[in-house]
Amino acid sequence: MSRTVLVTGAAGGIGGAIARWFLDDGASVVLSDRDGERCAAVADALPARDRVDVLAADLADPEAARARVRAAWARTGPPDVLVNAAGLYPSRTLLDMDDAEWRRVLAVNLDGPFALATEFGRALAAEGRPGCIVNVTSGAGERARRGAAHYCTSKAGLTMLTKALALEFAEHRIRVNAVSPGFIDVASEVNPLRPEYVRAIEAGRPLPRPGTPADVASAVGYLCSDAAGWITGSTLTVDGGVGAGSAALPMS
Ligand SMILES: NC(=O)c1ccc[n+]([C@@H]2O[C@H](COP(=O)([O-])OP(=O)(O)OC[C@H]3O[C@@H](n4cnc5c(N)ncnc54)[C@H](O)[C@@H]3O)[C@@H](O)[C@H]2O)c1
Repeated sequence: MSRTVLVTGAAGGIGGAIARWFLDDGASVVLSDRDGERCAAVADALPARDRVDVLAADLADPEAARARVRAAWARTGPPDVLVNAAGLYPSRTLLDMDDAEWRRVLAVNLDGPFALATEFGRALAAEGRPGCIVNVTSGAGERARRGAAHYCTSKAGLTMLTKALALEFAEHRIRVNAVSPGFIDVASEVNPLRPEYVRAIEAGRPLPRPGTPADVASAVGYLCSDAAGWITGSTLTVDGGVGAGSAALPMS
């Protein structure tokens, strides 16, 4: 029987590519994002529309998002795979940041995955079914970046949450891993970036080609495959070598 996969942030660049990867793999995919209309437009552009569903859920209100998936799963049953790819990465210095922005980024990037992952774990454990979770983290969770304290903190928290979920869900045969992308140019309207930033970050990348959403999607797919059956609590870095060191530095 083919798998069912719920992908959050599926109207976005990386989430959309992850949804397509699983569709190509024969799965049924539920696209979730804040804006149901954007999600439906993405769904209509996908092949195999009959294997695509849409579930609008605003992760800025994690309790409401939890209630939405709970209601949906009461009808359909929980999916086999949950991919937490929704994310916000606004730019703001700490001295200009107010509590509302700090809380919004933490809610979408960390509280949302907590709410959905625990709901998923409860639902699968109740049925005695195995499953997989993949959280999309970021190199920003390991290396701080100016103007991104909320984002970096949320992704560091998500990396640790991945490990904690993996430990506690292992007995239920639910594997939990993270994929940590380097910079991927998705030209996002939700998360716009300045061209100077894009040029600077690309300059330090060792591999001589830009990363693509498909690079991230295939890593997510691998972690959810039987080939990764003994992997849980891990982070797979997909960053063209950036985590290994900067290629922008000249030789000494
Ligand atoms: N693009 C990169 O360079 C990069 C690098 C590392 C990690 N990431 C992570 O990858 C993930 C996808 O980002 P992307 O680059 O594709 O950006 P994107 O803006 O294209 O996609 C993010 C999606 O998250 C959704 N989202 C935002 N707020 C939401 C909310 N309140 N409720 C539900 N959904 C919401 C947006 O609507 C959007 O569709 C994010 O978690 C991001 O942090 C991206």
